[in-house]
Amino acid sequence: MRLLVAACKRAGIFAMLALLQFSQVSAQQQSIQDGVYTAAQAETGKILYDENCQHCHDLTFYTNKLQSFAGMTLLDFWYAMLRKMPADNPGSLGDSQYLEIIAFVLSQNGYPAGDAELVPSNQLGRIRVPSLSATQSER
Ligand code: HEC
Repeated sequence: MRLLVAACKRAGIFAMLALLQFSQVSAQQQSIQDGVYTAAQAETGKILYDENCQHCHDLTFYTNKLQSFAGMTLLDFWYAMLRKMPADNPGSLGDSQYLEIIAFVLSQNGYPAGDAELVPSNQLGRIRVPSLSATQSER
């Protein structure tokens, strides 16, 4: 799947959208629209964000960043922060704490909370970030 996504990025946006349609029917795919974090995680994430991230990035930054990961997965988004952020104190947060910040970002962008926690695991690589246009056509 990841290879396919990479190939499609090269082939262009139309191919990518076609693949997103395809991946709807393929097994075990999830997206950030499926309630992939808990409300408690988003609450903790807000505290962590206020303390560690807000003085450099406002929320618009994260909304735009999330979109720039369209067609990729939460694993890619998590990996972009892990051990690099906060830039003034890299690696100061635990793996799960970055996921709590991601939960906060998802909640602020209207993606629903659910019963299952986001946890550091391979599952992250199966949670897609859809493009904005795909989000709209699904609703
Ligand atoms: C001292 C300022 C500073 C703080 C604090 C900070 N960042 Fe950043 N961040 C940056 C800069 C500068 C960049 C752009 C450079 C880069 O991409 O490496 C960046 C880039 C990013 C990116 C994009 C990375 C990519 O590969 O696209 C993400 C995501 C991110 N920050 C998340 C966070 C999170 C989460 C926190 C809090 C835990 C945080 N940042 C705290 C300065 C900061």
